Amino acid sequence: MSLTHLSDSGASQRVPAVTAQSLLEMKRSGHAITALTAYDYPTARIVDQAGIDVILVGDSVGMAVLGYDTTLPVTMDEMLHHTRAVARGVQRAFLVADMPFGSYQASTEEAIRNASRFIKEANAHAVKIEGGQRRADLVQRLTEAEISVVAHIGLTPQSVHQMSGYRVQGRTSEAMAQLYADAVALEAAGAVAIVLEGIPREVAAEITARSGIPTIGIGAGPDCDGQILVFHDLFNLTFSAPAKFARRYADGAAFFANALERYRDDVTARTFPSDAESYHLPRELREQRDELEHTADLHPAGKD
Ligand code: KIV
Repeated sequence: MSLTHLSDSGASQRVPAVTAQSLLEMKRSGHAITALTAYDYPTARIVDQAGIDVILVGDSVGMAVLGYDTTLPVTMDEMLHHTRAVARGVQRAFLVADMPFGSYQASTEEAIRNASRFIKEANAHAVKIEGGQRRADLVQRLTEAEISVVAHIGLTPQSVHQMSGYRVQGRTSEAMAQLYADAVALEAAGAVAIVLEGIPREVAAEITARSGIPTIGIGAGPDCDGQILVFHDLFNLTFSAPAKFARRYADGAAFFANALERYRDDVTARTFPSDAESYHLPRELREQRDELEHTADLHPAGKD
């Protein structure tokens, strides 16, 4: 390594202020980890500047932004495109990119190739993959390939058909035991954190207490080491009733609708743009034009 560019202020490849190590320290010191999704540059800037520790470019982009019914159709190209945009807006947060359905299931080699693209081409700091114990080998191989992995267990949206819908997981003794085994296997494999989605509070609390790596919950109760929400849930930009676990902090839909109605009305009434919002000819040219118009008024063509 050369130290030549370490003082460079360019955003690409910058070591973030929040790292896998600092997330671990936050767990150990009991400091709650904040996480949120972002899918584009302006949102990423706002989320980053608000001091959110982890920004996830979730494959929820498929439903929140691209209008798909599930996350399943989301492609590598779409994820890379959105991750690049978000990376340009992030200075402080730990940036995690979701590996889309089909990008890591076929073979370890393909998974490593795809995961590397998020780090190399899109400036992500880690990738996230869904699944428990059965992903442990892959987590280990990715970790050995210098790629940090955030695991994701419980309600894993890419398994929507296997789960027969988006259902809370871990509600039987067997399912609970499986989740505990999943968490242990993923930690042993080298995952830097685990997202716990849609599981009972008690189960998430137990996994968090037993786990040496941070747990980040969504619909998993308040006892996780951190919390994550989808940006569009937080701002009522989903066009649907909120899930039980998603708190709306602002009504973005009403905010935008109100501004748009005022814009429409101003254009219709011709009160936008105003003269102050218009460009003008240079004063000299304007005066010449006024002079000409004045002369034309005094001596209309054919009247002298
Ligand atoms: O895609 C996503 O937004 C996620 C979060 C719900 C954790 O996986």
